[in-house]
Amino acid sequence: MSEATNSTAQGSTVVASERTPAGALGGRGLIVRDLRVAVEGNEILKGIDLTVEPGRVHALMGPNGSGKSTLAFAMAGHPGYTILGGSVTLDGTELLDQAPDKRAKAGLFLSFQYPAAIPGVSVANFLRSARQAVRPDDLNPAKFRKLIFEKLDALDMDPAFLGRYVNDGFSGGEKKRLEMLQMAIIGPKYAVLDETDSGLDVDALQSVGNAAKSLRESEDGRNMGFLVITHYPRILQHIPADVVHIMIDGRIVKSGGPELAQEIERDGYDGVRDEVAAARA
Ligand SMILES: Nc1ncnc2c1ncn2[C@@H]1O[C@H](COP(=O)(O)OP(=O)(O)O)[C@@H](O)[C@H]1O
Ligand SMILES: [Mg+2]
Repeated sequence: MSEATNSTAQGSTVVASERTPAGALGGRGLIVRDLRVAVEGNEILKGIDLTVEPGRVHALMGPNGSGKSTLAFAMAGHPGYTILGGSVTLDGTELLDQAPDKRAKAGLFLSFQYPAAIPGVSVANFLRSARQAVRPDDLNPAKFRKLIFEKLDALDMDPAFLGRYVNDGFSGGEKKRLEMLQMAIIGPKYAVLDETDSGLDVDALQSVGNAAKSLRESEDGRNMGFLVITHYPRILQHIPADVVHIMIDGRIVKSGGPELAQEIERDGYDGVRDEVAAARA
């Protein structure tokens, strides 16, 4: 794949691929290299390059159907997504040849657009199982209780939440807050949040933003890297991104700073599409 870089009239850059010089981070980061993924025989991702550094927030934006969720599912190890080539490493460990639970143990957390309900399983038990599965340390019940109440407090959540069944009858906002709570309890190195904003009203968005913020300010969240996948720029007002990437038709066609999200807010994706077409012509 070409490494062509074309300057645009605005001075921002249309990139065919983005690379952090090898060794710049000593292998640290969530690093996606030339990733190609097929779904049901169709190549959806056509060579993705992306590096999420520890402590940084990258946003991945793009129109519906561009392949954003495919990237999240492929990283998670969903069996319906066939890896055609490339690599995904987490602080130097290759994830693609590992089972999904091993990827989580390595420090990857994914939050999906439509979390499933598990009637009969309380939030408290669910969180305890999730934590133990990913970090089988010797957190005794008393310590776990302490951790969970700390996190509830940090995320400004009602302890009554713990007694409810996982996502059963939850509002969109409550589902996303549970995802944030789960993330805080697990303490991953990198989190991929797929459309955490979809279907949320302003208050719910604010609380998800606050949850992410308090996590990032906490001792074990400070070095977390985030890949925030979103169609709409508004979540980025609550989780400010350091770097913004635009995906169209399975490729990252443009990367830039937060101003790129504002550009999308203003002009939609058509402007970027035209720019890319012009650069290729
Ligand atoms: N499970 C699936 N089965 C069939 N096609 C899929 C599946 N997942 C994704 N696709 C196709 O892959 C493309 C990218 O979809 P997706 O990754 O969901 O995009 P986005 O998240 O950016 O909206 C679309 O054309 C979609 O139809
Ligand atoms: Mg999607």
